[in-house]
Amino acid sequence: MAKWLKDAVFYEIYPQSFFDSNGDGIGDFEGIIEKLDYILSLGCNAIWLNPCFDSPFKDAGYDVRDYKKAAPRYGTNDDLKRLFNEAHKRDMRVILDLVPGHSSEEHEWFLKSKEVQPNEYWNRYVWTDDWTTVASGFKMIGGEAPRNAAYIVNFFKCQPALNYGFLKPEASWQLPVNHPDCIATKEAMKDVMRFWLDAGCDGFRVDMAASLVKLDDAESSGTKAIWQEVRAMLDKDYPDAVLVAEWSNPRLAINAGFHADFLLHFGNDAYNSLVRDYTMSPNYTIAGSDNSFFKKDSSGDIRKFLDDYLMHYEATKDSGYISLISGNHDVPRLALNLSQREMMLAFAFIFTMPGVPFLYYGDEIGMRYLNLASKEGGYHRTGARTPMQWKRGKNLGFSRADPEKLYLPVDLGDDAPTVEGAENDPDSLLNTVRTLLRLRRAENELGSIPNFEIIFAEKAQLPFVYKRGHFILAVNPGAAAVSLPLDKMGKIPKANPAKVYAIGDCVIENGSLHMKDQSFGIWRI
Ligand code: NOJ
Repeated sequence: MAKWLKDAVFYEIYPQSFFDSNGDGIGDFEGIIEKLDYILSLGCNAIWLNPCFDSPFKDAGYDVRDYKKAAPRYGTNDDLKRLFNEAHKRDMRVILDLVPGHSSEEHEWFLKSKEVQPNEYWNRYVWTDDWTTVASGFKMIGGEAPRNAAYIVNFFKCQPALNYGFLKPEASWQLPVNHPDCIATKEAMKDVMRFWLDAGCDGFRVDMAASLVKLDDAESSGTKAIWQEVRAMLDKDYPDAVLVAEWSNPRLAINAGFHADFLLHFGNDAYNSLVRDYTMSPNYTIAGSDNSFFKKDSSGDIRKFLDDYLMHYEATKDSGYISLISGNHDVPRLALNLSQREMMLAFAFIFTMPGVPFLYYGDEIGMRYLNLASKEGGYHRTGARTPMQWKRGKNLGFSRADPEKLYLPVDLGDDAPTVEGAENDPDSLLNTVRTLLRLRRAENELGSIPNFEIIFAEKAQLPFVYKRGHFILAVNPGAAAVSLPLDKMGKIPKANPAKVYAIGDCVIENGSLHMKDQSFGIWRI
């Protein structure tokens, strides 16, 4: 397995919005190259780039028109290769976003698949027998092709599902996974992977990784078999490459051959319970109460997180990594519901847990969630995809284009956070992230390794205390001070261990942990 992953901390970049180097209003590869040293300065040594391939951009690039061509708006294939090289020079890695479950409706495979005459690509997508067939349980689109059939989609209408077969076909139009045309789809996707790995990328974040084989069983046996085959290919030919799943089920994904998987906003409650335990109204505001664990006044309960997390952790700790995220391009930013202090505590937790953490661009300065009209299929996600805020002045330093030419508007608030503004404040969120990641890098026991132990985590009680090797870590996100007699509980060998790091006021004195409101601490025992 790729050794570098053990020490990786990822920075997720939505390329549209990171840094515009040529003044056309949208981010580009050169812009990312210019900011590599900034990313490194945070303590991130790996990058996940959202899809950057040729696309009509009806789902921000998750509708790929040509898997082997960089989207011209970001640059050329050579520019992307230069990004790989520049990253490697700094001992950084870059993983691309692989979208294997569907392509764009404008992909040439799909254009051929739509034709009346059978051809090599006729079964590359999932078509029904004729246009009147109803594909129950699937999103089906008719009226779009000369061919006498309807097709099923994986996500939006523009994203026809690629055909990897059905685990147990129930109708004549459902091909088995071992049908030569389904095998051809899999081989085509492996070919795409080889293409970019040969070009110098370090692996892939895999979009909708669980979505390949249709009518799969509860253990995803059909889809798993495909990823296990892909993993075998990597182990043999690209042993340094990594596969990170968008599955939100590490137990299944890591068993399927992925090196890591996220806990996300779907599939289980773990991540939501920490930072986004609220309901969003149709106009993108928070409706009702917010029970997130890190919300000061919530009745947040760490057991909600732990119950899911521990099941996945126990199942995967010797074979792969769980990835906790600050946020991503699919969810409102944390600043929508959390204060700076609440975000700090959440980051302190996320960056001191085992596994491989991901920081979403701009979360390190607490960029706000803007209420915006949908762009490129973003819907409520659009407001979490706005331009990075580098410094005061024109477009907050993102681009020299006229503001109306920008991909999305920048945060126009007078108090919009910027990197420059946060740089000189030792207590800023930005510098807190830096300090936490420096500590994580310096102390192997605070890194990815599976040494997580719970010291105190009771339903609806604070603080939450955990141990990693020779470190005790504790967080009290609540509004009231709390104390805990750790020595009486037989939890610490020293009555007065040395404090390594703290947010707010907290001490371990004479064997007892005392934490003021909204505090976090790390002690060496
Ligand atoms: C998950 C991606 O993260 C999301 O942005 C996209 O819209 C869907 N998959 C469809 O590809």
